[in-house]
Amino acid sequence: MSRIVFLNGSFLPIEEAKVPFMDRGFLFGDGVYEGIAVLDGNLVDNDAHLERLERSLGEVRIPNPYSRAEWTRLEEELARRNGMTEGFIYFQVTRGVAERDFMFPENAAPTVAMFTQAKAIVNAPAAETGIAVVTVPDQRWSRRDIKSINLLAQVLAKQAAKEAGAQEAWMVQDGYVTEGGSSSGFIVTKEGRIVVRPLSNAILPGITRKSLLALSKDVGIELEERMFTVEEAYDAAEAFMTSASTFVLPIVTIDGRSICDGKPGPVTKKLREIYIRMASSPRMAAE
Ligand SMILES: Cc1ncc(COP(=O)(O)O)c(C=O)c1O
Repeated sequence: MSRIVFLNGSFLPIEEAKVPFMDRGFLFGDGVYEGIAVLDGNLVDNDAHLERLERSLGEVRIPNPYSRAEWTRLEEELARRNGMTEGFIYFQVTRGVAERDFMFPENAAPTVAMFTQAKAIVNAPAAETGIAVVTVPDQRWSRRDIKSINLLAQVLAKQAAKEAGAQEAWMVQDGYVTEGGSSSGFIVTKEGRIVVRPLSNAILPGITRKSLLALSKDVGIELEERMFTVEEAYDAAEAFMTSASTFVLPIVTIDGRSICDGKPGPVTKKLREIYIRMASSPRMAAE
């Protein structure tokens, strides 16, 4: 069976889904996107992802083509048509198709594209082994709070990580870690406190980050929302990353140096467990 995608109002086999040459997403990277996990058929943190999409669209002044209820119906229908109960839904909105010119076109309708990627998130081998991270300079623009489809700096960062034998890149500005190429970055102090960079234009407001911070408060894990340096990370008791497509993943080396004993730590394991529990029964979390 061919993968079914959604494009501009229609569900169709991926081979038949074509975007015009003059789409501004293709020519300018003029668009925004979202990515959301599906677990046991649930859309994980759906409301928060749709809220961030609304914000991203508003910041770049692309009209939002759908209400939250309509987006949700499309996500559910796409997962259902692909028989996907665990995996990832990607969706993007571009400013649409128009003759190439920098200024906004007058009458273009936004292009909406959505696809699924089936994936074992809960039983991911990386959750057992932990992953390696390398640090790279953060070469991005100054509005990283917008989930823009302009991802060239992250493409280069994550390729550099791969070539160094690592699975994620931590981007660094003025000696401080900003975030991962496609994840939020955390460390755990020797006293068992979580440290995470505060929200600003320097990082994407991660939805998994937000949800996990609320859950960690419930189980009494203390939080320091502040910047941290690469040296502090080398010396941390634990390090981990969060993202919609991976939930919580332990980081066991940074730039080839083992974090503590080089094995996933207890705080990270506990946070992964409570996040998975919430993700598989979101109604319980909402009560
Ligand atoms: C730069 C960046 N930071 C953080 C994240 C994690 O965000 P979320 O938890 O919403 O997936 C992502 C996810 O794609 C990202 O690209």
